[in-house]
Amino acid sequence: MSINTIINRQYAIANNQADPIDLPKQRIYAMCNLRGGIGKTTLSFNLSYLVENLLSVDTCPQGNLSFFYDNNYYAAQQTNVKDMLLPYLVPGLGKATRVASYIGATNQFFSNKNNYFIPSSEELYLLPSQLITAINQTAGLQQAQKEQALRSILYSLKTEIERELSENALDKCIIDTSPFFAGATQLAWYAADALVIPVRTDQQSIKSLELLINTLSSPQSEFRKYLPENDMNVPKIQMVVLTHCGWSTVAGARNEPNQQTKVYLKKVYDILSKHRTLLSTNAPENHLFMLDDFLGSGRISSIESKPMELLQEGETKVIDRVRVSVNKSVDKCKNQLKFIAQQLW
Ligand SMILES: Nc1ncnc2c1ncn2[C@@H]1O[C@H](COP(=O)(O)OP(=O)(O)O)[C@@H](O)[C@H]1O
Ligand SMILES: [Mg+2]
Repeated sequence: MSINTIINRQYAIANNQADPIDLPKQRIYAMCNLRGGIGKTTLSFNLSYLVENLLSVDTCPQGNLSFFYDNNYYAAQQTNVKDMLLPYLVPGLGKATRVASYIGATNQFFSNKNNYFIPSSEELYLLPSQLITAINQTAGLQQAQKEQALRSILYSLKTEIERELSENALDKCIIDTSPFFAGATQLAWYAADALVIPVRTDQQSIKSLELLINTLSSPQSEFRKYLPENDMNVPKIQMVVLTHCGWSTVAGARNEPNQQTKVYLKKVYDILSKHRTLLSTNAPENHLFMLDDFLGSGRISSIESKPMELLQEGETKVIDRVRVSVNKSVDKCKNQLKFIAQQLW
C-alpha cells in the first residue's frame, strides 16, 4: 500500500504535478551514507544549484565536490575545511574566518546564484586520528570541564558553519561527507540538523544503510558515545533517496519500477518503518524518494561540472572516445531533483 503511495507520487513528480510534502524544513543537512559511489557528491552538487543563499561544505578528503565547483581545486592551495577545524583540536592555532568562496567565481554555471562553498583538503585523511587524540585528552578533566571541552570539539564544524553562514548572509547548508564515519564526516553528523541518505539499488547499500542507522541510534556507537547525556543532539533523517532507479519497459507498464528497483524500494521502506522515531516525521512514505539512473546525462554533467538542470535532451559529448548523449529522461530527472530540493529547504 505505502510503496504504491511512493510509486504513484514519483509518477506525479516526473510530470511536475506532485503536491509538496509537509516535511519540517531544516537549515543544515549532511549528505551521508557509509558507502562510496552511491550519489552523495552528485546529489550535493545538483541540489546546490537548485536553491539560493546556500553554503556547500566538502568534508570528503577525495574532494570531488570541491572539484565540481572549481576545476583548479587539486592544483590550488586555499584555506579549507581542515584549516577551520584544526584550531579546535590542536592548541595554539588561530581560528580561520571567511573561508567560503563564491561558487560563481570558479564555476560559470553558478554565476547567477548567491551560493558559496568551503573546499575540502587531502589532509582530512589525517583528521580522524587528530580528532580521537583531542577527544582522549579531555578524559583527565573534571566532569564540567570535560563536557565543555568535548562540546567544543564535537560541535567545532557546527560552530564554524554557523559563523560562515552569518558572515556571508546565507541561510542554508549542505555538507557532503566521505564513506567513512570518522574525522570530518563524524563532525558533519554533529553539525547537521538532519541527514539526507542516498541509497543505491544494491545489497551493499542496504547494508550501509543499516550500519548508518545503527551508528545513529545505538548508545555505544562512535557517534553517540561521546555525546554528553544531556546533549543528545541527534540529527533526524529527512530523506532517503533511492538512486540509480530503473523503470519497467514492458508495454503497458506505465509506472512500474523494474524488478531490482522494486526489491530495494521495499527493503528501504521496511527499514524506515522499523525506525520511525529517527525520521523527521513518523510517516516513512514521506521520507523515501526515487531518482532515476542519470545514464549519459550524469556522465556529461560530471565531465562538464554542469548541473543536470542546465542539460538539454540531445546534447552530446565525446567521453573516452565514445559519443555520449543527454537522454530523453533528463527532464524527469530534473523534476525529481527539484522536488527533492523543495522538500529540504
Ligand atoms: N540517480 C543518480 N543519483 C546519483 N548519481 C547517479 C545517479 N545515476 C547515475 N549516477 C552516477 O553515479 C555516480 C555517483 O557517484 P558519486 O556522486 O561521486 O558518489 P559518492 O559521492 O556517494 O561516492 C556518478 O557517476 C553519477 O553520475
Ligand atoms: Mg563523494
